[in-house]
Amino acid sequence: MTPIPVLESARLVLRQWHDDDLTEFAALCADPQVMRYFPAPMTRLETAALIGRIRGHFNEFGYGLWALERKDTGAFIGMTGLLNVDFDAPFGPAVEIGWRLARRHWGLGFASEAAWTCLRCAFAQLQLEEVVSFTTEGNLPSQKVMQAIGMQQDVEGSFEHPRLPAGHPLRPHVLYRIDRSHWQQTLRA
Ligand SMILES: CC(C)(COP(=O)(O)OP(=O)(O)OC[C@H]1O[C@@H](n2cnc3c(N)ncnc32)[C@H](O)[C@@H]1OP(=O)(O)O)[C@@H](O)C(=O)NCCC(=O)NCCS
Repeated sequence: MTPIPVLESARLVLRQWHDDDLTEFAALCADPQVMRYFPAPMTRLETAALIGRIRGHFNEFGYGLWALERKDTGAFIGMTGLLNVDFDAPFGPAVEIGWRLARRHWGLGFASEAAWTCLRCAFAQLQLEEVVSFTTEGNLPSQKVMQAIGMQQDVEGSFEHPRLPAGHPLRPHVLYRIDRSHWQQTLRA
């Protein structure tokens, strides 16, 4: 499938990955603060493999995690996008929205702005019926992004992430959802 090459918001370009994004992205994925709610920071090799998987997802499904570039400086600042849930989730099959930004670009509304753009793509362009998002219980900054883009918590949907071992402190996850009609309502509000 041909990847959706680019999306645009007021301050950001959501684009395909360039080979030279690796250095910045590897630094971001090696930052223990950025990776605080993940099992561990990532090595450069692991980050390179992740970019490979992201490109593969775009080639297979047309959508994926876009690289984010600031229009004002041209800086690469992280990623936001849509991906198929790839584990046996009680709410699956589903398309997830996710984000990861470099620390110096937090607190500026970039994650929410990119996420709004991806939701528009999901519902207006890809004609999806629903998008989900999930994160470990303690990741409140991520849950704030979910709330900011109109997602609602499915309290009954909280789950233990099967990729983490039983008893791991990050294992309990919260689930948020938004469907097309709710997204349309948020546009009218
Ligand atoms: C989750 C993450 C992307 C959130 O980033 P963020 O910058 O806090 O999120 P937003 O883009 O929504 O920005 C919101 C903040 O910007 C502020 N802001 C400033 N200018 C703004 C603007 N023009 N528009 C909106 N918000 C703005 C808001 O007040 C808010 O600040 P607050 O959190 O102090 O209330 C970031 O913490 C991150 O990358 N974490 C590590 C990776 C991660 O955990 N990913 C999720 C895994 S499930």
